[in-house]
Amino acid sequence: MTIVQTRPSLIERWREHLPFAEGDPIVTLLEGATALVPAPVISEMVGAEVYLKCEGGNPTASFKDRGMTCAVSAAVREGAKAVICASTGNTAASAAAYAARAGITCAVIVPEGRVAMGKLAQTLIHGARVVSIAGNFDRGLALVRELVERHPISLVNSVNEFRLEGQKTGAFELVEDMAGGPDLLCIPVGNAGNITAYWRGFCEMGVAPRLFGFQAEGAAPLVLGHPVEHPETIASAIRIGNPARGKEALAATAESGGSIRTVSDEEILAAYRLMASKEGMFCEPASSACVAGLLKYGADGASTVVCVMTGRGLKDPETAIERNDGAVISCAPDMGAIEEAVLGDA
Ligand code: F0G
Repeated sequence: MTIVQTRPSLIERWREHLPFAEGDPIVTLLEGATALVPAPVISEMVGAEVYLKCEGGNPTASFKDRGMTCAVSAAVREGAKAVICASTGNTAASAAAYAARAGITCAVIVPEGRVAMGKLAQTLIHGARVVSIAGNFDRGLALVRELVERHPISLVNSVNEFRLEGQKTGAFELVEDMAGGPDLLCIPVGNAGNITAYWRGFCEMGVAPRLFGFQAEGAAPLVLGHPVEHPETIASAIRIGNPARGKEALAATAESGGSIRTVSDEEILAAYRLMASKEGMFCEPASSACVAGLLKYGADGASTVVCVMTGRGLKDPETAIERNDGAVISCAPDMGAIEEAVLGDA
């Protein structure tokens, strides 16, 4: 049988910049090469050219797939039979999908009752063992770090170098698509792997946009300067109180001449609704945190700005349904009622 591959995998595309040799096993779902979409409404509001890097276009609908193709390929190369991660949901979904693809097992540790429904559905259908703890992401990460010391299981959180190596390709694509990259990158910050990876990618390409990272007010350890024991925010993906890559993220941000700042849940939700209703872009709340930050603090003189839309809105249907201004209008199946429902002032 001939299997035709329509485009290169992320590892093939960027092999010269990644720690994979010809002939190494590659576990791929053809991730990366995501769209860069202009945002005319946000552009008008901030007085700069704003673009959205649509990472929800990845196979499992978040940026995690860039790192996961590398982490799982490396695990397979090392002979691993199992991978594990702690997760607020997206890493879990991605690890589960790539492990399924590789034919190895996957376990994920998640905070009980605090993972968005789409992410949980993905993780389960891919066949991962989902373990929920009465504790937050930070506790889960501490536990899996200890577990992999005792058992031959490969850890695929962003403490794994291969994750950052894969995720830096997001920056490569921006440099390619924008002929040198943007002046300013706005990005949500949770465990702080992605902002660290983007900076690495920009540095390797010899460009240096300013980085504006955004944390939710109730989960802002990097802004406060100390861990947050009970992180809280509507943006469940970035509900993290003790980021593993925090130091590197702060160093990268400072080196870029940027900063990490906070946005409130109200600001996150306002940006979330604005993106969906005015730009036609349904992202998850954590992703909209970076748009909220751009709207709150401004483009600060930048003429081109990229907001990293880290995950697709369908990941979190509960928030979309509960936190939106509209509602389903129930109607009798006849013309008079339909006319009233469609045309009347709702
Ligand atoms: N946006 C989304 C949609 C995420 O899922 C995450 C992290 C981030 C932003 C923040 O990225 O951690 O590299 O700073 N999600 C992780 C997870 C923690 O388990 O899925 P970061």
